[in-house]
Amino acid sequence: MDRPKPARMQHFAIEVSDTDRSIDWYRRVLGFKVTERHAAHEVAEIPVELTFMRLANIHHEIVLVHNPAKTYRRKPLPENDLDGPPNFHHAALECDSRAEWLRMLERIQEEGAQIVRGPVLHSFVQSRGDGSWGENEAVYILDPDGHRIEVFCDLATIDADGTHVSAWGDRMEGTRTEEP
Ligand SMILES: [Fe+2]
Repeated sequence: MDRPKPARMQHFAIEVSDTDRSIDWYRRVLGFKVTERHAAHEVAEIPVELTFMRLANIHHEIVLVHNPAKTYRRKPLPENDLDGPPNFHHAALECDSRAEWLRMLERIQEEGAQIVRGPVLHSFVQSRGDGSWGENEAVYILDPDGHRIEVFCDLATIDADGTHVSAWGDRMEGTRTEEP
């Protein structure tokens, strides 16, 4: 039966301790623009400051949420987060090509963003790979509050029979997909 489902993942919203600082970081490091910024209580039932940011012409891909009534402390790294509610691990931003990803890597380094993993090639079929899955190249950085953002390119796709296909069109025979 053809049951309804969403077409795609789209935006994510994160809490930030200092909206100005985060706007500056998402602009400088990742190239976002501010679409709309709204003060807490501007709308009666919304007690938090909301800032909608975009990469191109979609209204927003990220939302920065700041609660002026909250005392913030820095989010721990996942490996150090040993007690408390399950935390969101990371969000990922895709580059259109490996060339653009390499330019983003330069930008990230020039802007002095904190790199916590990579650059790394997630692959168990390529000799440069780290043995993990997805056939994509990635770098992981932390935003000013410790939110982990991945910037990547070349994620594999899945053929109808469950075989993984690299971004450059190679079917990787022997690969397996739990739910083709
Ligand atoms: Fe990821």
